Amino acid sequence: MISDISKDELQSVLDVIKAQYGYDFSDYASASLKRRVLRFLQSASLKDIAEFRYRLSNDSAFFSWFVQSVTVNVTEMFRDPQFYKTMRETVLPKLASYPVIKIWHAGCSTGEEVYSMAIMLHEQGLLKRSRVYATDINPANLERAMSGIMSTSQMKDYTQNYIQSGGMEDFSSYYTARYDNAILNSELRKSIIFSQHNLVTDAAFNEFHLVCCRNVLIYFNRTLQNRVMQLFHDSLAPLGYLALGIKESLLFSDIRDKFESVSMLNKIYRRHR
Ligand SMILES: C[S@@+](CC[C@H](N)C(=O)[O-])C[C@H]1O[C@@H](n2cnc3c(N)ncnc32)[C@H](O)[C@@H]1O
Repeated sequence: MISDISKDELQSVLDVIKAQYGYDFSDYASASLKRRVLRFLQSASLKDIAEFRYRLSNDSAFFSWFVQSVTVNVTEMFRDPQFYKTMRETVLPKLASYPVIKIWHAGCSTGEEVYSMAIMLHEQGLLKRSRVYATDINPANLERAMSGIMSTSQMKDYTQNYIQSGGMEDFSSYYTARYDNAILNSELRKSIIFSQHNLVTDAAFNEFHLVCCRNVLIYFNRTLQNRVMQLFHDSLAPLGYLALGIKESLLFSDIRDKFESVSMLNKIYRRHR
């Protein structure tokens, strides 16, 4: 079993992945990437790094398992309820003035965040004229997201989050419980377009009024964070909003002067005109 991986060995693995699949993990925050690769190696029972590289380049199922293990997919509906409360009270009323509201959730994982947004848009009478793009690097996450199926065991926590975010409806009216599954209403899904997009390599693809990218940039190093921030800037309409995660900030980025802060606490910014 492999118990450690040197910097050069890790880079040689990342080079194989980039050449074979076009995914470039070189600018992910190195300490946490290494930690997750080592955890993966513990469960993969490989002889040495050469076998690791061989399996990655010749076995696409093995590669999918690797991606699933090294990207952090943790998410929740109405995660950080205060963030959603600010969205409801401050941002969505401003977006209501657009005839078509265009929103991008980058790094949407298994969809919990974008379905939460769809619920808020529905409650403000905005869902039908919204186009909500939800993207992720990981196709397995997108497949789960598209199914709109959550686990009923999580619904108790999500209901609490929803209430704390200012939700006034009966949260259980948004899903049908069947055995262990909570199936979200298909109406919520109708305005969401799920597709694969890699923040490292892919370009801007629309002009949005709101970009949400929460709990993704913390896994990138400063160089990549700056590049992605520039991508978000280029993807936003003038006066468009950018929402980051609680642990993320525009403060240290190269483009901080192109935004003003809307909520320091909730890391919501607005692009200058
Ligand atoms: C921790 S989850 C965040 C989910 C959600 N935004 C939230 O805050 O609840 C991070 C997501 O970023 C995705 N991700 C990682 N690298 C990416 C990249 N280069 N491009 C697009 N998505 C990426 C992962 O696949 C994962 O689904």
